[in-house]
Amino acid sequence: MLLTEMIDIKKDYFLGETVVHALRGIDLTIDKGEFVAIWGPSGSGKTTLLNLIGAIDQPTSGQFYIEGQEIKRLSDNKRTDLRNRSIGFIFQGFNLIPVLSALENVMLPLEIRGASFSKAREKALWRLDEVGLSDFVSHRPDKMSGGQQQRVAIARALVTCPSLVIADEPTANLDTGTSKKIIGLMRNLNEKEKTTFIFSTHDQRLLDQVKRLIRLEDGKILDGGIKK
Ligand SMILES: Nc1ncnc2c1ncn2[C@@H]1O[C@H](COP(=O)(O)OP(=O)(O)OP(=O)(O)O)[C@@H](O)[C@H]1O
Ligand SMILES: [Mg+2]
Repeated sequence: MLLTEMIDIKKDYFLGETVVHALRGIDLTIDKGEFVAIWGPSGSGKTTLLNLIGAIDQPTSGQFYIEGQEIKRLSDNKRTDLRNRSIGFIFQGFNLIPVLSALENVMLPLEIRGASFSKAREKALWRLDEVGLSDFVSHRPDKMSGGQQQRVAIARALVTCPSLVIADEPTANLDTGTSKKIIGLMRNLNEKEKTTFIFSTHDQRLLDQVKRLIRLEDGKILDGGIKK
Protein backbone atom coordinates (compact mmCIF):
# COMPACT_ATOMS: atom_id res chain seq x y z
CA MET A 1 0.00 0.00 0.00
CA LEU A 2 1.33 3.38 -1.04
CA LEU A 3 2.56 5.64 1.75
CA THR A 4 4.03 8.52 -0.16
CA GLU A 5 4.34 9.63 -3.76
CA MET A 6 6.40 12.44 -5.27
CA ILE A 7 6.04 13.57 -8.86
CA ASP A 8 8.68 15.86 -10.37
CA ILE A 9 9.49 17.46 -7.02
CA LYS A 10 11.91 20.38 -7.09
CA LYS A 11 13.33 22.31 -4.18
CA ASP A 12 15.24 25.55 -4.53
CA TYR A 13 16.85 27.49 -1.71
CA PHE A 14 17.23 31.21 -2.21
CA LEU A 15 20.32 32.79 -0.67
CA GLY A 16 20.23 36.46 -1.57
CA GLU A 17 20.94 36.59 -5.30
CA THR A 18 21.87 32.91 -5.61
CA VAL A 19 19.54 29.98 -6.06
CA VAL A 20 20.56 26.50 -4.93
CA HIS A 21 18.74 23.78 -6.86
CA ALA A 22 18.79 21.19 -4.07
CA LEU A 23 16.28 18.79 -5.68
CA ARG A 24 15.91 18.77 -9.47
CA GLY A 25 12.87 16.67 -10.28
CA ILE A 26 12.30 13.76 -7.93
CA ASP A 27 9.92 10.92 -8.79
CA LEU A 28 9.56 8.64 -5.81
CA THR A 29 7.10 6.18 -4.34
CA ILE A 30 7.41 4.51 -0.97
CA ASP A 31 5.07 1.80 0.32
CA LYS A 32 3.92 1.30 3.88
CA GLY A 33 6.19 -1.06 5.79
CA GLU A 34 9.32 -0.40 3.75
CA PHE A 35 12.84 -0.19 5.23
CA VAL A 36 14.52 2.01 2.70
CA ALA A 37 17.76 3.96 2.54
CA ILE A 38 18.72 7.11 0.70
CA TRP A 39 22.39 7.17 -0.15
CA GLY A 40 24.45 9.83 -1.85
CA PRO A 41 27.39 12.21 -1.47
CA SER A 42 27.34 15.20 0.85
CA GLY A 43 25.21 17.97 -0.63
CA SER A 44 23.27 15.60 -2.91
CA GLY A 45 19.96 16.57 -1.26
CA LYS A 46 19.31 13.77 1.27
CA THR A 47 18.32 16.01 4.18
CA THR A 48 16.27 18.23 1.87
CA LEU A 49 14.38 15.18 0.59
CA LEU A 50 13.79 13.76 4.07
CA ASN A 51 12.50 17.14 5.30
CA LEU A 52 9.97 17.15 2.47
CA ILE A 53 8.85 13.55 3.10
CA GLY A 54 8.41 14.45 6.78
CA ALA A 55 6.28 17.49 5.83
CA ILE A 56 8.75 19.71 7.70
CA ASP A 57 9.43 21.74 4.57
CA GLN A 58 7.54 22.35 1.32
CA PRO A 59 8.73 21.75 -2.24
CA THR A 60 9.18 24.62 -4.68
CA SER A 61 7.20 22.70 -7.31
CA GLY A 62 5.82 19.27 -8.07
CA GLN A 63 3.21 17.04 -6.52
CA PHE A 64 3.62 15.33 -3.19
CA TYR A 65 1.15 13.03 -1.47
CA ILE A 66 1.17 11.28 1.89
CA GLU A 67 -1.50 8.59 2.24
CA GLY A 68 -3.25 10.04 -0.80
CA GLN A 69 -3.44 13.57 0.60
CA GLU A 70 -1.69 16.29 -1.34
CA ILE A 71 0.46 18.04 1.24
CA LYS A 72 0.32 21.53 -0.22
CA ARG A 73 -3.48 21.47 0.08
CA LEU A 74 -3.32 20.89 3.84
CA SER A 75 -3.46 23.84 6.22
CA ASP A 76 -0.47 24.43 8.51
CA ASN A 77 -2.46 22.96 11.38
CA LYS A 78 -3.35 19.82 9.47
CA ARG A 79 0.29 19.36 8.42
CA THR A 80 1.49 19.76 11.99
CA ASP A 81 -1.17 17.34 13.12
CA LEU A 82 -0.09 14.75 10.53
CA ARG A 83 3.51 15.07 11.71
CA ASN A 84 2.68 14.79 15.39
CA ARG A 85 0.32 11.88 14.87
CA SER A 86 2.21 9.61 12.56
CA ILE A 87 5.80 10.68 11.92
CA GLY A 88 8.90 10.35 14.10
CA PHE A 89 11.88 12.36 12.89
CA ILE A 90 15.53 11.77 13.82
CA PHE A 91 17.37 14.91 12.74
CA GLN A 92 20.95 14.89 11.49
CA GLY A 93 21.78 17.58 14.06
CA PHE A 94 19.56 15.88 16.72
CA ASN A 95 17.56 19.11 17.48
CA LEU A 96 17.32 18.34 21.18
CA ILE A 97 16.09 21.07 23.48
CA PRO A 98 19.18 22.18 25.43
CA VAL A 99 17.43 23.23 28.65
CA LEU A 100 15.61 19.93 29.00
CA SER A 101 17.02 16.67 30.37
CA ALA A 102 17.17 13.54 28.20
CA LEU A 103 14.00 12.30 29.88
CA GLU A 104 12.16 15.60 29.38
CA ASN A 105 13.22 15.72 25.72
CA VAL A 106 11.81 12.24 25.12
CA MET A 107 8.62 12.95 27.09
CA LEU A 108 7.85 16.07 25.06
CA PRO A 109 6.17 14.52 21.97
CA LEU A 110 3.86 12.56 24.26
CA GLU A 111 2.99 15.63 26.32
CA ILE A 112 2.25 17.56 23.12
CA ARG A 113 -0.21 14.79 22.26
CA GLY A 114 -1.90 15.22 25.63
CA ALA A 115 -0.48 12.21 27.52
CA SER A 116 -0.44 12.45 31.30
CA PHE A 117 2.89 13.18 33.00
CA SER A 118 3.14 9.70 34.50
CA LYS A 119 2.29 7.91 31.23
CA ALA A 120 4.75 10.09 29.29
CA ARG A 121 7.45 9.44 31.89
CA GLU A 122 6.90 5.70 31.84
CA LYS A 123 7.06 5.44 28.03
CA ALA A 124 10.05 7.78 27.78
CA LEU A 125 11.98 5.76 30.38
CA TRP A 126 11.22 2.57 28.46
CA ARG A 127 12.54 4.01 25.17
CA LEU A 128 15.62 5.47 26.88
CA ASP A 129 16.31 2.06 28.34
CA GLU A 130 15.98 0.48 24.89
CA VAL A 131 18.65 2.79 23.50
CA GLY A 132 20.91 2.08 26.49
CA LEU A 133 20.58 5.42 28.28
CA SER A 134 18.97 4.45 31.56
CA ASP A 135 21.85 5.99 33.49
CA PHE A 136 21.63 9.32 31.67
CA VAL A 137 17.97 10.27 31.92
CA SER A 138 18.56 13.42 33.94
CA HIS A 139 21.50 14.66 31.86
CA ARG A 140 21.07 17.68 29.64
CA PRO A 141 22.26 17.39 26.01
CA ASP A 142 25.40 19.49 26.59
CA LYS A 143 26.51 16.99 29.23
CA MET A 144 26.24 14.08 26.81
CA SER A 145 28.45 12.78 24.00
CA GLY A 146 27.36 13.05 20.36
CA GLY A 147 26.40 9.38 20.31
CA GLN A 148 24.37 9.73 23.50
CA GLN A 149 22.55 12.77 22.11
CA GLN A 150 21.84 10.81 18.96
CA ARG A 151 20.29 8.04 21.03
CA VAL A 152 18.10 10.56 22.88
CA ALA A 153 16.95 11.80 19.46
CA ILE A 154 16.18 8.19 18.44
CA ALA A 155 14.23 7.53 21.65
CA ARG A 156 12.28 10.76 21.14
CA ALA A 157 11.38 9.78 17.56
CA LEU A 158 10.20 6.31 18.60
CA VAL A 159 8.39 7.20 21.82
CA THR A 160 5.02 7.84 20.16
CA CYS A 161 5.23 4.55 18.20
CA PRO A 162 4.85 6.43 14.89
CA SER A 163 3.86 4.54 11.74
CA LEU A 164 6.65 6.31 9.81
CA VAL A 165 10.15 7.04 11.08
CA ILE A 166 12.36 9.38 9.07
CA ALA A 167 15.97 9.20 10.15
CA ASP A 168 18.76 11.39 8.83
CA GLU A 169 22.03 9.49 9.34
CA PRO A 170 20.69 7.82 12.52
CA THR A 171 23.85 5.88 13.32
CA ALA A 172 26.49 8.39 12.17
CA ASN A 173 27.78 9.14 15.68
CA LEU A 174 27.50 5.69 17.22
CA ASP A 175 30.23 3.18 18.01
CA THR A 176 29.99 -0.26 16.37
CA GLY A 177 28.25 -1.97 19.30
CA THR A 178 25.66 0.74 19.83
CA SER A 179 25.05 1.09 16.11
CA LYS A 180 24.32 -2.64 15.87
CA LYS A 181 21.88 -2.37 18.76
CA ILE A 182 20.04 0.61 17.24
CA ILE A 183 19.86 -1.08 13.82
CA GLY A 184 18.43 -4.16 15.56
CA LEU A 185 15.82 -2.01 17.31
CA MET A 186 14.80 -0.39 14.03
CA ARG A 187 14.63 -3.72 12.16
CA ASN A 188 12.56 -5.19 14.95
CA LEU A 189 10.03 -2.33 14.84
CA ASN A 190 9.90 -2.67 11.06
CA GLU A 191 9.22 -6.41 11.21
CA LYS A 192 6.98 -6.65 14.27
CA GLU A 193 5.09 -3.32 14.20
CA LYS A 194 5.32 -2.77 10.43
CA THR A 195 6.80 0.66 11.10
CA THR A 196 8.05 2.26 7.87
CA PHE A 197 11.65 3.50 8.02
CA ILE A 198 13.11 5.97 5.53
CA PHE A 199 16.65 7.03 6.30
CA SER A 200 19.75 8.50 4.84
CA THR A 201 22.92 6.69 5.73
CA HIS A 202 26.51 5.93 4.85
CA ASP A 203 26.71 3.18 7.48
CA GLN A 204 27.48 -0.10 5.70
CA ARG A 205 25.94 -2.12 8.53
CA LEU A 206 22.66 -0.33 8.00
CA LEU A 207 22.93 -0.47 4.20
CA ASP A 208 23.37 -4.26 4.51
CA GLN A 209 19.88 -4.45 6.06
CA VAL A 210 17.87 -2.53 3.47
CA LYS A 211 15.79 -4.12 0.76
CA ARG A 212 15.85 -1.01 -1.36
CA LEU A 213 18.42 1.71 -1.90
CA ILE A 214 17.62 5.10 -3.40
CA ARG A 215 20.76 6.65 -4.86
CA LEU A 216 20.79 10.41 -4.99
CA GLU A 217 23.28 12.63 -6.78
CA ASP A 218 23.17 16.35 -7.37
CA GLY A 219 19.47 16.58 -6.49
CA LYS A 220 18.40 13.73 -8.76
CA ILE A 221 17.61 10.08 -8.15
CA LEU A 222 20.03 7.85 -10.03
CA ASP A 223 18.10 4.67 -9.23
CA GLY A 224 15.75 3.12 -6.71
CA GLY A 225 13.05 5.81 -6.87
CA ILE A 226 10.29 3.54 -8.04
CA LYS A 227 9.98 0.19 -6.27
CA LYS A 228 10.70 -2.80 -8.50
N1 LIG B 1 18.60 25.98 4.31
C1 LIG B 1 19.35 25.99 3.21
N2 LIG B 1 19.61 27.14 2.55
C2 LIG B 1 20.35 27.16 1.44
N3 LIG B 1 20.90 26.06 0.88
C3 LIG B 1 20.68 24.89 1.49
C4 LIG B 1 19.91 24.79 2.70
N4 LIG B 1 19.88 23.48 3.07
C5 LIG B 1 20.60 22.81 2.15
N5 LIG B 1 21.08 23.64 1.20
C6 LIG B 1 21.88 23.27 0.02
O1 LIG B 1 21.13 22.27 -0.71
C7 LIG B 1 21.98 21.22 -1.17
C8 LIG B 1 21.53 19.89 -0.57
O2 LIG B 1 21.76 19.93 0.83
P1 LIG B 1 21.36 18.74 1.81
O3 LIG B 1 21.57 19.23 3.20
O4 LIG B 1 20.00 18.26 1.46
O5 LIG B 1 22.44 17.62 1.42
P2 LIG B 1 22.79 16.22 2.11
O6 LIG B 1 22.80 15.20 1.01
O7 LIG B 1 21.89 16.00 3.26
O8 LIG B 1 24.30 16.44 2.61
P3 LIG B 1 25.08 15.80 3.90
O9 LIG B 1 25.46 14.39 3.50
O10 LIG B 1 26.27 16.68 4.03
O11 LIG B 1 24.17 15.86 5.08
C9 LIG B 1 23.40 21.64 -0.79
O12 LIG B 1 23.97 22.29 -1.89
C10 LIG B 1 23.19 22.59 0.37
O13 LIG B 1 24.23 23.54 0.42
MG1 LIG C 1 22.21 15.80 5.30
